Amino acid sequence: MKITKIGIVGSGHIGGTLGMLLAAAGYEIFYSSRHPDALKDLARTTGPRSRAGTVAEAIAFGDVIVLSVPLKSIPELDAGAKEALKGKIVIDTSNPYPERDGVLAEEARKDPGGMGVFVARLLPGARIVRAFNTVYFADLKRTKNKAGEKIGIPIAGDDQEGLQAAVELAERIGLVPVVVGGLSASKSFDVGTAVYATSASAREIRKRLKLEPARSRHAA
Ligand SMILES: NC(=O)c1ccc[n+]([C@@H]2O[C@H](COP(=O)([O-])OP(=O)(O)OC[C@H]3O[C@@H](n4cnc5c(N)ncnc54)[C@H](OP(=O)(O)O)[C@@H]3O)[C@@H](O)[C@H]2O)c1
Repeated sequence: MKITKIGIVGSGHIGGTLGMLLAAAGYEIFYSSRHPDALKDLARTTGPRSRAGTVAEAIAFGDVIVLSVPLKSIPELDAGAKEALKGKIVIDTSNPYPERDGVLAEEARKDPGGMGVFVARLLPGARIVRAFNTVYFADLKRTKNKAGEKIGIPIAGDDQEGLQAAVELAERIGLVPVVVGGLSASKSFDVGTAVYATSASAREIRKRLKLEPARSRHAA
C-alpha cells in the first residue's frame, strides 16, 4: 500500500507533532479537531503539504488516520466519523488517564486485553494499530532520547497492512519501530509498563519486553 496522505484526528501535542514530522518526511497532512479554525496556525507552520479542517474531511482525506485524542473523546466522535473510520487503518496514540478520561480510563486500565483491544471495541470496523503512545511529545519532536539514540516505537496490531503503515511512518520520521505483536500485545507498552514514557531506544525496548533481537533491516 502506498501512503501519501495522512488524516490526523486530534491535532494537539502528539497529533500536531506527528503532523509536522510526517510533513517534513514528505507526506500530505490533514489536521482536524472539533475546532478546525484553531488549527490554521499549525497548518501554516507545518508548511504547504498541510491543511486543516473537520474530522470528517480528515478521515476522507487520509490513506491512513492518526487518532490522537483523549480516550474519553473516542466514544464522543460523531456517528458519521465512526462510520467513516470503518475499514480505515487507524493509528491510535491514546492513553487512559482517569483524571482526564474518567471512568472510561479506569475500565481501560482494567481491561485484560489492554488499550488496543479496548479502543478497537469503541471503534468497531476500524483497523486499529497502537503506536506512538509511549513517547512524551517533546521527546517525539526531537526523535532522539537524552543518550542521543533514536527513540524506539513499540507497535501492535492485528492488521498486517496497518502494522506496516505504522512501521513506515515511524521509520520515515527518524524513529525505530519495534513490532511487538497483535493488538492484545499492545498491553505490554500501555501506561505503567517498563517502556512507557521512557523514550528508550528500540534495543532497550526489546530487552525490557523480552523480545527477540531484531533480525530485519529495522534492527536496533
Ligand atoms: N502529550 C503527550 O506527550 C502524549 C504522549 C503519548 C500519548 N499521548 C496520548 O495521545 C492522546 C492525545 O494527547 P495530546 O497530549 O496530544 O492531547 P491534546 O494536546 O490535548 O490534544 C488533543 C486534540 O484532540 C482534539 N479533540 C479532543 N476531543 C475531540 C473530539 N471529540 N473530536 C475531535 N478532536 C478532538 C483536541 O482539539 P479540540 O479540543 O479543539 O477538539 C486536540 O486537537 C491522548 O490520549 C494522550 O493520552 C499523549
